[in-house]
Amino acid sequence: MDCPLKTNSVYPSTSEPTLVFLIGEAPGEIEDQLGIPFVGKAGRSLRGWLKKFKLDAVAGYGNACLHRPYDELPDGTRTNYNRVPTEQEMSACVPILERFIERAHPQFIVFVGGTSAKFVGGYKGTVGSMVGRWKEYKGIPCTVIYHPSALMRPMAKAKRVEWERINFSVLREISVKLGLSRDEAKH
Ligand code: URA
Repeated sequence: MDCPLKTNSVYPSTSEPTLVFLIGEAPGEIEDQLGIPFVGKAGRSLRGWLKKFKLDAVAGYGNACLHRPYDELPDGTRTNYNRVPTEQEMSACVPILERFIERAHPQFIVFVGGTSAKFVGGYKGTVGSMVGRWKEYKGIPCTVIYHPSALMRPMAKAKRVEWERINFSVLREISVKLGLSRDEAKH
């Protein structure tokens, strides 16, 4: 069954071998325009985090839904852009995402935010309980970080700092496991 959304298809960034694959929720406006995942404001923030841990050059990106979500009014006008994709929309798109991941054969998968973690990764519970928790997705070690969009929303500074600290510790752990960063605890 095809995805009912008629926005552009934003395919994963690569099917070439990659060490880490990040899976978000759905493309936003810029991703829809350019056809590349994670290149808008949230994407720049995410790519900046990866760069900090030398993961940017070895990463692939994709989304649980390949299309920018919207609702349609009876007159055909599109509204409510960037809502959370429905299970039907993600079910239609995930097989394509999986084909790219199979070929990219990453050593680690990172779910970016709760939507993909739940729907693709099979995580349960609150996002707070998922972040940094390791399990396997199709035999590949996977974990979860807070979505950069969540950190861009208004929130108490202490909470933002804590969420960023948790994300950095997850990304540092992956970078150390891949031999790209030193384990600071050991030095
Ligand atoms: N948010 C996502 O989850 N994915 C993108 O590609 C862009 C923003």
